[in-house]
Amino acid sequence: MVGNSVCQALKGHDLLTPSKQELNVTRLEQIMRFKTDYIIHLASETDHEYCDENPAQCYLVNTIGTANMMRLAKSLHIPIIYISTASVFDGKKLSPYEIHDVPNPINHYNASKYYGEILCLQHSLSYILRCGWMFGGGKGLDKKFVAKLVNKINVGQKEIKVCTDCIGSPTYSVDVAHFINRVISNKPLPGIIHCANKSNGVSRYEFACEVVRILNAKVNIIPCKIDDLKDEFPCKRTNYEVLSNNQFMPDWKQSLKDYLCQY
Ligand SMILES: NC(=O)c1ccc[n+]([C@@H]2O[C@H](COP(=O)([O-])OP(=O)(O)OC[C@H]3O[C@@H](n4cnc5c(N)ncnc54)[C@H](OP(=O)(O)O)[C@@H]3O)[C@@H](O)[C@H]2O)c1
Repeated sequence: MVGNSVCQALKGHDLLTPSKQELNVTRLEQIMRFKTDYIIHLASETDHEYCDENPAQCYLVNTIGTANMMRLAKSLHIPIIYISTASVFDGKKLSPYEIHDVPNPINHYNASKYYGEILCLQHSLSYILRCGWMFGGGKGLDKKFVAKLVNKINVGQKEIKVCTDCIGSPTYSVDVAHFINRVISNKPLPGIIHCANKSNGVSRYEFACEVVRILNAKVNIIPCKIDDLKDEFPCKRTNYEVLSNNQFMPDWKQSLKDYLCQY
């Protein structure tokens, strides 16, 4: 999802885009054969449910895999960009999370990404971009909220339940990719950067209503609680994962419109 957007946004660069077979982040000896002057580390097990059912694989790819990519970055003395997530936080705060807030992950995926952050902070040339609810990539690559909703609309569902009690920061993969390009060109101070589209926090319900409004779809979005959707999302999720705004990221509604116009 993000990888596809990064390839488009960084067309002017000499990109190496190895497949999972050519560069499996769990295989250190394979990684250490690469020579490059910059790493954008996007490989991850991203499915929360899969990670909760397969914690060993989750930590192997997301944490050990990140440790391995860090080894390469350190040995070549080069910068690395690591994409982390707003859901490293526990959701107990009621105002947007700032860089200095202390994470407290509540499921395996979130913990595996947080441990990746800790590892990255041990290298002085690491950029940790925390992103929110990602959308982008289009058909086939987008497996997240927007794609799932569009699929339900396309198969003719007329009533779709969406929860009001999960609040987050929508994040367009294309905007993240442009921000990555900006980091590479402008070389800001390394460290943690919040990288979500501008918003004051958006509920899943509000997000779904905006998708339906843009598509002009004849669908009723029915408000519910996350606990009503346990069959679809059994894994425990953070209720509040709003990130402080990044001045270089566009407003979420405009980016969602741009995406859906292309979808
Ligand atoms: N999606 C979100 O909502 C979200 C939010 C915040 C942060 N992020 C972060 O953004 C980054 C990019 O995620 P994405 O949304 O673009 O997810 P994605 O589409 O699932 O991309 C992850 C990629 O990692 C690859 N991968 C998995 N295991 C690997 C391994 N052992 N070695 C090498 N590659 C491996 C996957 O290949 P296969 O598909 O072949 O397994 C897939 O191409 C991740 O670090 C993710 O944690 C995502």
